[in-house]
Formats: sequence, structure tokens, C-alpha cells
Amino acid sequence: MAYRDLRALLEALDNDVHHVTQSFAPRFEIAAALRAARADAPALLFENVAGHAGWRVAGNLIANRRRLARALDTPMADLARTCVERRSQSLAPVRTTDAPVKEVVRTQGDDLLSELPILTHHELDAGPFITTGVVLCTDPATGRRGMGIHRMMLKGGRKPGVLLANPPMSQFHANAEARGEALPVAIALGLEPATVIASVVKSGPLTPDKMGIAGALRGEPVELVRAETVDVEVPARAEIVIEGRIPPGVRETEGPFGESTGAYFTYDSPVIEVSAVTHRQAPIYPGLCPWSADLDMLLWLAAGADLLGQLRTHVAGVVDLELVGGTAGFSMIVAVANCPRPEVRRLVQLALALDKRLKSLTVVDDDIDIRDPRDVAWALATRYQPARDTIVVEGTDAYVIDPSASGAGQGSKIGIVATRGGGAAFDKARLDAAALAKARRTLGELMQ
Ligand SMILES: Cc1cc2nc3c(=O)[nH]c(=O)nc-3n(C[C@H](O)[C@H](O)[C@H](O)COP(=O)(O)O)c2cc1C
Repeated sequence: MAYRDLRALLEALDNDVHHVTQSFAPRFEIAAALRAARADAPALLFENVAGHAGWRVAGNLIANRRRLARALDTPMADLARTCVERRSQSLAPVRTTDAPVKEVVRTQGDDLLSELPILTHHELDAGPFITTGVVLCTDPATGRRGMGIHRMMLKGGRKPGVLLANPPMSQFHANAEARGEALPVAIALGLEPATVIASVVKSGPLTPDKMGIAGALRGEPVELVRAETVDVEVPARAEIVIEGRIPPGVRETEGPFGESTGAYFTYDSPVIEVSAVTHRQAPIYPGLCPWSADLDMLLWLAAGADLLGQLRTHVAGVVDLELVGGTAGFSMIVAVANCPRPEVRRLVQLALALDKRLKSLTVVDDDIDIRDPRDVAWALATRYQPARDTIVVEGTDAYVIDPSASGAGQGSKIGIVATRGGGAAFDKARLDAAALAKARRTLGELMQ
């Protein structure tokens, strides 16, 4: 069953949402709660947002696999498979005139964004940042839709900065600039997670419209409506839409901001001249705290499941893939079954080339639990010889928010082959199954 919008999902999650009735401020306090929440905690809905009466803030929506599975309406064990399968399909969006996102339309005023409870996350952030705004636009050169999360910095007035460091959005903006034109954009906030995930899957020349991927991930087409002041289609059931134009030739300092990496990042970015803000009654602003479990899960589905699908089509024996939490998708672990070492080395080269974020990849056998750091460390300790099993790729493009590559423009990547050789020397020393069952039966909670 598809969730029509964020509200429908929150309702369905029921007791997996904690309603926060105490007052929390958008400056620091909500971000602190989102970051510090236990991974297995419910989603948080802040209903008493200091200084923003009538607004609510939702966060940690997909911070664990249980809720992610609910959001995609699939069993937890099938998450990766479901995502890989649905992501390769497309369900085209439909046009509608029923657009709750236009219940309130504002075009007047010097400070249209000030009513939104935009979060300030970290001590040294230059200001409030929108972290989960899905930027929508059309490439002036090809007519193709652009759709991706791009951070936006509130600076007062109607001109927030927007970080356009990644194609295709950076290319669409460059295409508009080459014509001396402004790029019309709309930023959708408060979407159900499937559409947000679709916005950040990798796109390429052969990839269908990300709105079509969103439809396939949800199991129902996204309903679109034309924005009020720009020629851009927006999800009709979003909570909030910001409309505007990115003028050519303008760059302003944007940052510092504590990024997905957990480190501060500053850039010279374009600005958006905001022309309208539309929203629903009693709107829900989406909070996504950088360097959090929520972000790890989003990246796992968008980047991890995507790469898993691609690797499976090229190398036999690829079983599973996990992002190392807290690494912004820079570090991953892949499990393989019956994959000869030359094939594993090819797999490493391929993965490092396919994913521009990925900096460090470890490959293990499928007798290793890739979600258990102790198990992975054991594979590294017993199956990996650094001089023999390390692949270093130099001269790669540095990922823009990676502080270790800052200023260099170029980076490097590492692949670690920690799969077993032949013979019993690589077998795990296992406990007797009956004895283990007895220990669990007799000693109960003392046992794992
Ligand atoms: C949480 C998150 C935040 C992102 N923030 C930005 C950003 O501020 N600027 C940017 O250029 N790209 C950002 N990206 C990457 C773009 O959304 C990226 O273009 C997209 O994930 C991949 O789609 P593409 O292959 O169509 O570029 C972010 C991605 C994620 C997952």
C-alpha cells in the first residue's frame, strides 16, 4: 500500500511515532534530539515548536530498518531486494488539481521563509539550513527534469543560498547560466520517504525520470501540480513548496555547515530569489539531521541498494552490501558467495569506479555478518593480507564534501579483499549447536 503523503505515513506508523509535546526550539534543540535519539526509537513529531505556532517538525522518519520497511511497505528482510527491483521500474507521475500544498499561498513580504521552522543544527553552522529540500527544475538545454536534495542556507531576506555541487543540477544551472538565464526551481519539503529516496538515487543518461522512480518505489504515481510562480511541477501533497529562480552569475559564501560527513563544509554557492511559499494547513516541516541514523538509512537505500543492483548485474555471487554508518556512504562492505578472488578484485575496481562517493570498500564472504563490526574485523584479521589484498586507485575525483580531499580536486580510493582462501584454515570455529541451545535455554537473558 502506498502512503499518499507524509501525513498518511505518520498516521499508519501509529505508536512508532513519539509526539513531543514539550517546547523545542528550531535553533539547536530539535537537531540535538534527532541526533541523540536511540536508533530503535520511534520517529519524532515535535508539536510545540518554539516561535512557530501552528507548525510541526517531523524527524528520524526512516532512522531504522523497521520504519524504512514500513515506509516502503515491504518486509524488513526484503528491503534491499525491493528497492533494487522497484528502482529499475518507472511509474509516471499524474497531474492533479487537488493540491493540499496550496492551502496557503504566500508571495508577498520581505522574509517569506521566516515562518518555516528551519533547523540550525550545529554550534558553528553559519545559520539555519534546509537539509531535506527536494529541488525540482527543468534543464533548459534538454527539457529533462532535475530532482535532488540540495542543502539551502537561510540568510534572512528572500535569497537563501543553495549548494549545487553535483550533476545533474549543477549542469542544469550551468546550462541556464550559459544562456544568461535564471533557472526556475521549486523545493518540495515534507514528502513521504519513497519520493525523497527516489530524489537521491543515482541518475544517468538511461535513467528514467526520478519522479517515475518515486512512483515505482511507492507503488503509486506521484501526483503533480504546476507551481504558482514558476513553470515547474511539484508534488501536490507535499507539506511545503518554496518557489523561485536561481539568477545567473551570482555566488555567495554558503556555510560553514556540519555536513553528512560530520565535518563543516563551506562553498561559494548560487542563491535562490524566492517568489512564493505555499504550504498545507498545520504544516509539517521535515528535519533531517546530518551525520545521523536517519541519513545513514537514506544513503543505504539511495546509494547502497543502487550499487548492489549494479554489481549484481556484472559479477556473479554478490550477496549483500552495507554502508558503514557515519561515513556518509564513503565506506561500504560487500558480502560475496563462491566468488573467486580475481572476480572479487574485478568487483572492487568496478564498485570504486561506479560510485563517486565510495572511498573504501571491503569485500568479505557471506559467512560474515556485514552488519556486525566484530565479524567484519575478524574477517580482516584472519583472511586479509595487506600487501597482497589491497587495491589502491589514485587520481579519482574527490567527493566535494570530503574534508580529507579538500582543495586537491583529486582523491584516491581503497579496496580490501578479505575473502577466504581454500581449506579449513579459513573456517569459523563454531560452537556445538546443541550446547549453545542449552546455554540459551538455561541461562536465558544472560545469553546473546
Ligand atoms: C542527504 C543528501 C544531501 C545532499 N545534499 C546535496 C547538496 O547540498 N548539494 C549537492 O549538490 N548535492 C547534494 N546531494 C546529492 C544530490 O542530491 C545528488 O545529485 C543525488 O543524490 C544523486 O542524483 P544524481 O545522480 O541525479 O546527481 C545530497 C544527497 C543526499 C543523500
